[in-house]
Amino acid sequence: MLERGSCQALILAAGKGTRLRSQTIKVLHPMLGKPLVDWVIEGAYQANIRDMIVVVGHDRERVTQHVEEVHQGKDASVVCVTQEEQLGTGHAVWCAREQLGSTNAEYTLILSGDVPNLSTQTLEAFVARASESGKSVAMITAFLEEPARYGRVVRDPQHGEVVAIVEAADATEDELEIDEINAGIYLMKTSFMLEALEELCQGEATNAQGEFYLTDLIAMASEREGSVLGWVIDQVEETQGVNTRQDLALATDYARQRIVDHWMTQGVTCLAPSQVFIGPDVELGQDVVLYPGVHLEGKTRIGSDVTIEQGNMVRNSVLGDGCYIKSSCYLDQASLGQFVTIGPFAHLRPGADLGDGVKVGNFVEIKKTRMDDGSKASHLTYLGDAHVGKKANIGAGTITCNYDGVNKHKTEIGEGAFIGSNTALVAPIKVGDGAFVAAGSTLTNEVPSRSLGVARGRQRVIEGWADRKNRP
Ligand code: UD1
Ligand code: CA
Repeated sequence: MLERGSCQALILAAGKGTRLRSQTIKVLHPMLGKPLVDWVIEGAYQANIRDMIVVVGHDRERVTQHVEEVHQGKDASVVCVTQEEQLGTGHAVWCAREQLGSTNAEYTLILSGDVPNLSTQTLEAFVARASESGKSVAMITAFLEEPARYGRVVRDPQHGEVVAIVEAADATEDELEIDEINAGIYLMKTSFMLEALEELCQGEATNAQGEFYLTDLIAMASEREGSVLGWVIDQVEETQGVNTRQDLALATDYARQRIVDHWMTQGVTCLAPSQVFIGPDVELGQDVVLYPGVHLEGKTRIGSDVTIEQGNMVRNSVLGDGCYIKSSCYLDQASLGQFVTIGPFAHLRPGADLGDGVKVGNFVEIKKTRMDDGSKASHLTYLGDAHVGKKANIGAGTITCNYDGVNKHKTEIGEGAFIGSNTALVAPIKVGDGAFVAAGSTLTNEVPSRSLGVARGRQRVIEGWADRKNRP
């Protein structure tokens, strides 16, 4: 293994991704909730690389901002360098020459922002083998049944050494028959790479696409040194590039399977593994049970003995041990203590903070609200900007009227309070500990502790009314 600092990574991410036909640039397309470029950066990080350079071009403000935001505070340097015009992969690396030359890293690992599934094991094994070989250039290759648009690896028929890469657009019919492809992942000696790129980019681009191909460095190295290391990978799926929506679906499915499989090994039950989606940064405890159609994304953490039924979306949320999520809920930036029951059909929005044993039933929406231990909102309720005390009971159809059209206001509901059904709480408002609110009230004033608040029209009964009006 190389020492930290002796290897830097360069990530190609300037292309638009025309074949995706999208308003969003390719490397920001999410796979299991995480943008492609993040998968690549994270992969390099896991392989112990701490100096990274990302070449950006299309939509560079967004990509740069994203990369900076995500990697803030990590013990790695991730620098974005601009490629103004997308003149090819070789030109893209060339644009980063100053940065590349300033780190003293002997080796540069070149990664594509659109190849998200390379595993840490693969990267580490490749870097180790490539650096041991002493060659100036090493690359990952794979044998594919349908090599399609990938660059073809040309080997010397006598010794089997890699001598060149031919892009599909430039290949002859014979070359197109080659089923060994270039995965677009290289380890190069930084000094060789910079010299060769200078030569390449100062010449003319004479290929079919009129681009400066990074792949031309293979032939250059082979001519100079006699050979280049072509490291054949068995897990061909890891090298799959994302160029079309079909590719994205395939890559997602591969990543998904791998992650689901990992969690099953760790003691998670998946009733239908092919229908469970778990993001790469999600953590799950033992004896979690996941029904089909469950999506867990972002930095979600799930404790042990948690069951999540059919059709739930959980993003950036924390669920304590023993929670039970019934079908069809949506959780985003929510925090649940232990033994919390949610749903079916509940919506927990950012800032929903539920204590131990809380129960949230069907058609309940919660936003920026703390519900203390043992409190309940079992049916048809909206709680926004509220604090609900321990063991309080929120009746069916309770609404916090938190917004006056300009500002948001707070609702305080005390410990053990009982809010009758169909109550509107016009905030700012307070219901004291152990207080009661009569069903159907529209409250605008405080209900002190242990009192009853009633705020509705008194019932009248008009006897014989129907007869007088000649109603049938
Ligand atoms: C490239 C390789 C091909 C290989 C394949 C593997 C070249 C010439 N070809 O082809 O041999 O089989 O990857 O996936 O390298 N990019 C830039 N600036 C540019 C052009 C591209 O930053 O001017 C970036 C893209 O954003 C992308 C990566 O480089 O992340 C690869 O570019 P792409 O156009 O997808 O190359 P391929 O045609 O896939
Ligand atoms: Ca590609």
